[in-house]
Amino acid sequence: MKHRRVVVGRRGGPDVLQVVEEDLPRPRADEVRVKILAAGVSAYDLMIRSHRLPGTPRPPFTLGVDVVGVVDEVGAEVSTVATGQTVAALTGFDGGGYAEFICLPAAALVPVPPELDPAEAVCVVANYLTAHTAMHATAAVRSGERILIHGVAGGVGSALAELGREAGLEIYGTASRHNHEFVSSLGATPIDYRTEDFVERIRDLTGDGVDAVFDPIGGARQMWRSYRALRKGGRLVWFGVAATKHKGLRVIPASLLTLGLLKLAPGGKQALTTPDLQKDNARYRATLALLLDLLAAGKIKPLVAERIPLVEAIRAHELLERGGYAGKVVLVTDAAR
Ligand SMILES: NC(=O)c1ccc[n+]([C@@H]2O[C@H](COP(=O)([O-])OP(=O)(O)OC[C@H]3O[C@@H](n4cnc5c(N)ncnc54)[C@H](OP(=O)(O)O)[C@@H]3O)[C@@H](O)[C@H]2O)c1
Repeated sequence: MKHRRVVVGRRGGPDVLQVVEEDLPRPRADEVRVKILAAGVSAYDLMIRSHRLPGTPRPPFTLGVDVVGVVDEVGAEVSTVATGQTVAALTGFDGGGYAEFICLPAAALVPVPPELDPAEAVCVVANYLTAHTAMHATAAVRSGERILIHGVAGGVGSALAELGREAGLEIYGTASRHNHEFVSSLGATPIDYRTEDFVERIRDLTGDGVDAVFDPIGGARQMWRSYRALRKGGRLVWFGVAATKHKGLRVIPASLLTLGLLKLAPGGKQALTTPDLQKDNARYRATLALLLDLLAAGKIKPLVAERIPLVEAIRAHELLERGGYAGKVVLVTDAAR
């Protein structure tokens, strides 16, 4: 039997994505073959499609770090999941999610309540795991605290806002003006980062600043300004480099250097970053299970920006490059339709 997979044959723009047809992969003894229903599309995918970064695969490779699907075949040593079960997983830095089938280690799979929409469930995987880890493991927020979320209309940003609301936080968030209605619907106070000085706005709105800033934008100026928006005792959590989209790869070393300098800065504030989400398997599984339960209970409601057929992955990347959408773009396979 054959399946389709989207391959990056060489680095470049969206048109380097090619659909290939090939034999189904066979699971090893500790692996499971999953028939994919939905795969997330992320800013990280765009970055490694166009640029060679340390620790990322060499072409040809398949993008896609988060999937939801149905267990299709289990390896000889696997007893934790059964054929027909719906599961979610982070695929790791090697990707592989833009496909109809994937083989993954059984330890990466977390059961998904079968009544959930696979496209909504896949939004929870990388975005909400990142948000939950940043908010609870790294920033260790407490009810009643004030937070500032940059890119709050984006996939991770909106996840942070929803989890912040659940945790009883007062939320401010930066977004383009056309996303402000959506930001307000998340329970956050919007700040237009294009026309307003967010440090000044935060001072005006809060007096002494916020307890935590979540910064997926990166770059020296941005991170120093995020740090300035903190009150004494506040925590800056840096976890992404969205600024590379306009400023290029130099944002990465600049962000790492800035994080190091901010850690040394006096002033009773902390500069932190998030851990690798899959390093601690027990925590990864427990957190993902908790988030899927919150979804099933209707306590979180991820916004699917657009559902795009897998074979139209080029269109999905063009949409991400253009921007101007809110929520997460999801690829769906024929099996989900
Ligand atoms: N460390 C991790 O484990 C991890 C995991 C997942 C993602 N990330 C990182 O998190 C970042 C965001 O990912 P995502 O999937 O949420 O992306 P996304 O859905 O594309 O959202 C990005 C958002 O950033 C906003 N934005 C762009 N420049 C901005 C600026 N200067 N100030 C404020 N907002 C700005 C855009 O808002 P408007 O459209 O409103 O302008 C957009 O909504 C990426 O850098 C990604 O690599 C890290």
